[in-house]
Amino acid sequence: MAIYRADPGDGVVWLTGGSTGIGRALALDLAREGYTVAVTARAQDPLDEVVTAAAGLPGRILPFHCDVTDEAGMARTVEAIEASAGSIVLAIFNAGIYLPVHAEALHLPAFRAVYDVNLFGVVNGLVPAVAAMQKRNRGHIVLIGSVTAYFGWPSTGAYGATKAALNIMAEALRFDFDKMNIRIQVMNPGFVDTPLAARNKFLMPALMPVDKASARILRAIRSGGFETTFPRRLTWALKLMRLMPHALVFAFISAVTRWKARPLMPGRMHEPDPPPAPAPTRRRKSKTVRG
Ligand SMILES: NC(=O)c1ccc[n+]([C@@H]2O[C@H](COP(=O)([O-])OP(=O)(O)OC[C@H]3O[C@@H](n4cnc5c(N)ncnc54)[C@H](OP(=O)(O)O)[C@@H]3O)[C@@H](O)[C@H]2O)c1
Repeated sequence: MAIYRADPGDGVVWLTGGSTGIGRALALDLAREGYTVAVTARAQDPLDEVVTAAAGLPGRILPFHCDVTDEAGMARTVEAIEASAGSIVLAIFNAGIYLPVHAEALHLPAFRAVYDVNLFGVVNGLVPAVAAMQKRNRGHIVLIGSVTAYFGWPSTGAYGATKAALNIMAEALRFDFDKMNIRIQVMNPGFVDTPLAARNKFLMPALMPVDKASARILRAIRSGGFETTFPRRLTWALKLMRLMPHALVFAFISAVTRWKARPLMPGRMHEPDPPPAPAPTRRRKSKTVRG
């Protein structure tokens, strides 16, 4: 039996981190397809903006103010979406943050913040979303990973680890999801031109426009394959590196990033504490779901 694949006629999409970057572009593309898209994020103004941008599209965007690190709030968000908009047939866990970490100045709050959003933020949503899908014997889940899942590049000790964890989690859960008529997919993009990527201080080869990345993800959602990675000219090389001896890969990455020339900067390289959650400026139009 073919595993379920979401369709706009069946119910609602839940998209975390849909107010900026890849999530915003994807929310609008899904609304163009006719989906009702429940978008969650913390800051209110970008949420309002994406709702406005969807005016006139065949589908619509509904804003839900929620922090993915709030376990109870995420469960309530699922309830609120289902009560007000309909059954969640497709859940896309996209919210993510990047904080660089360096071995000479390890900083626990940076690790915790990245794990809380990128990994537990996904699990916080997965648990209630799957419970709801299980009752209906069908569902479709998409995790947004990253090519940093393929090998530990310098400074990605926290970020890449969460993305690798998402890939393994998706693989492991798939064995059971297949029996539950729940499709799970993982998307591993290369560099995409978004507010997150704009903060990177390193070279980003094959940087993709956000609309192109969203179109690629949408195509992958339609086709239903387990893993999608893009742009191919970058990601096939990265995949190939996984098959090479570690010594060779370490030497290659050191050379292309010129990492050996970077001086250790103990003390100075402490990353600032993770940014505080943006305060919602206006709550008029969206539902705030708290635990
Ligand atoms: N850009 C790239 O090069 C790239 C490459 C590979 C993978 N990715 C992945 O793609 C996803 C989207 O990234 P992006 O580049 O589009 O980033 P972005 O533009 O910074 O967007 C991140 C989104 O996540 C939301 N978010 C962040 N923390 C949250 C929290 N605690 N609770 C709820 N929402 C939260 C943000 O809204 P609020 O801050 O208002 O909450 C925003 O809507 C991430 O998982 C990222 O790791 C990005």
